[in-house]
Amino acid sequence: MSFDRSIKIAPSILSADFANFGAEIRAIEAQGADWVHIDVMDGHFVPNLTFGPPAVKAFRPHVKTVMDVHLMIVPVDPYIDAYADAGADILTAHIEAGPHIHRTLQAIRGAGMKAGVALNPGTPADSVAHLLDLCDLVCVMTVNPGFGGQKFIDLTDKISRLRAMIGDRPIHIEIDGGVDPVTAPLVAAAGADVLVAGSAVFKGGSVDRPEVYGDNIASIRKAAASAQ
Ligand code: DX5
Ligand code: ZN
Repeated sequence: MSFDRSIKIAPSILSADFANFGAEIRAIEAQGADWVHIDVMDGHFVPNLTFGPPAVKAFRPHVKTVMDVHLMIVPVDPYIDAYADAGADILTAHIEAGPHIHRTLQAIRGAGMKAGVALNPGTPADSVAHLLDLCDLVCVMTVNPGFGGQKFIDLTDKISRLRAMIGDRPIHIEIDGGVDPVTAPLVAAAGADVLVAGSAVFKGGSVDRPEVYGDNIASIRKAAASAQ
């Protein structure tokens, strides 16, 4: 993975057909997805449950771009090796998931993956000030994690602050939650480069009508790129 700050669209397969993940992943990549975002939920850290390491490992052969795995689980550390084995390129853990995020980020990199740290809407930008040399991505949640299709929370001041803190470091700012062609320009202008989108990518499309995914991805990208 090389680093750049161009806009990258990362569809979340949380909004895909759960009976057809392989074909859905192939369809979004064929339609222009830059990364594939995989939401792992444990029914404990967040009030919803999705899938674990065996499912993520089964997705891997279908992902030709970047497999971006967002853990909404607690604890994290006992599962890091399993997600490395599953083939995650980026593994993101929540700063709120435990007292030892510093150790967790070291362990993720130690297992050969890029390390991400995610911040819930109520967590301040400054909480990552002493973690920036340990991470490759900061994920700013613009909804409370757990479900797709929620209303965007405007945290552009937090994104701008993070962007200034990051400076020249090769760290992505990823936005997750409620991203669509209306909200994408706000976060891109504030300094985000990776835009996760679930409902706004999958709405109206299917593996039989994949061109709708392509149109949706293109609309978000165009709106964001014009603001960056
Ligand atoms: C929320 C997840 C998101 C979610 C985004 O907990 O982390 O990735 O799928 O969904 P939309 O784009 O529908 O808000
Ligand atoms: Zn996510």
